[in-house]
Amino acid sequence: MRVLSGVQSSGRLHLGNYLGAMKQHIEAQEAHECFYFIANYHSLTTVTEPDRLRAYTRDVALDYLALGLDPETACLFRQTDVPEVTELTWILSTVTGKGLLERATSYKDKIAKGLQASMGLFSYPILMAADILIYRSDVVPVGKDQVQHIEMAQDMAASFNHMFECEVLKRPEAKLNEAMIVPGVDGQKMSKSYGNTVELFDSSKATRKRIMSIKTDSTPLEAAKDPETCNVFAIYRLLAAPAEVRGLEAQYRAGGMGYGEAKKQLAEVVERVLGPARERRRRLEADPDYVEDVLRAAGEKARGVAQGVMEDVRSACGLITAKDTHR
Ligand code: TRP
Repeated sequence: MRVLSGVQSSGRLHLGNYLGAMKQHIEAQEAHECFYFIANYHSLTTVTEPDRLRAYTRDVALDYLALGLDPETACLFRQTDVPEVTELTWILSTVTGKGLLERATSYKDKIAKGLQASMGLFSYPILMAADILIYRSDVVPVGKDQVQHIEMAQDMAASFNHMFECEVLKRPEAKLNEAMIVPGVDGQKMSKSYGNTVELFDSSKATRKRIMSIKTDSTPLEAAKDPETCNVFAIYRLLAAPAEVRGLEAQYRAGGMGYGEAKKQLAEVVERVLGPARERRRRLEADPDYVEDVLRAAGEKARGVAQGVMEDVRSACGLITAKDTHR
């Protein structure tokens, strides 16, 4: 089974990204053929400073490798190393109704937030469908906000196959990342746009400070506390071992423990998870040639698959293929 997902390179990744998607991506590498790419063509719809786009693209690669993506097992590459996706985007745009794109809630949200209604933003879902279909992906693990985009990719595959009376494009399935919503330091969903994130790769001191700033209620230290309504506990339970979770839960219910102590315990677990990754990331950062080699080799592998599918696509719709020129 081929699993594919893309991550935009449009900012520093945070604990919400890790628990909501990256962790599942990395775990899937054991059991499936995994293609993960850094969606830098997509990022161009929001990041307009070249140096920042380059840095973010590199950061996503470093973050995945540091957190345990094994480049020998999973294919981690840059979207731009497979330029054929832009060709498939064009072809798919000819079988996609404008109305379908106009219903995209993510587009409407972005416009409502004040982003410029560029054609890139509008046809974002077509590029995303091309990403998925060009590798004949079986399963696409994504967060809830992306499910509509996967459904659009399914529609586009069907439209293409129907229009050209073929079975060239494979219908992908969405796999919802079942992770609980990860709250940010203010209790809202952790999101870059809310400014409430705990970054994955800050210094350990800055991370600790951020954790100590998590909003809690004013239940006094002696009183029993409800873990179910506490932001600190909500993050703790996503990271700690089951026995630790039960232990902290008991301390909440018993009373006599302040939120400061709970935050300290959370900070320790976060450090246990991120500390070694931070160290690996530091080493990778010092070896840019290695990271470049990983991305390039994976890009070549992915491109090989994409080129094969594109031969079939071009042939199905009557564009000239290498085969045709010998006819
Ligand atoms: N739009 C996705 C996001 O913002 C990123 C993405 C681009 C993607 N292409 C993809 C995800 C293809 C899955 C499959 O999260």
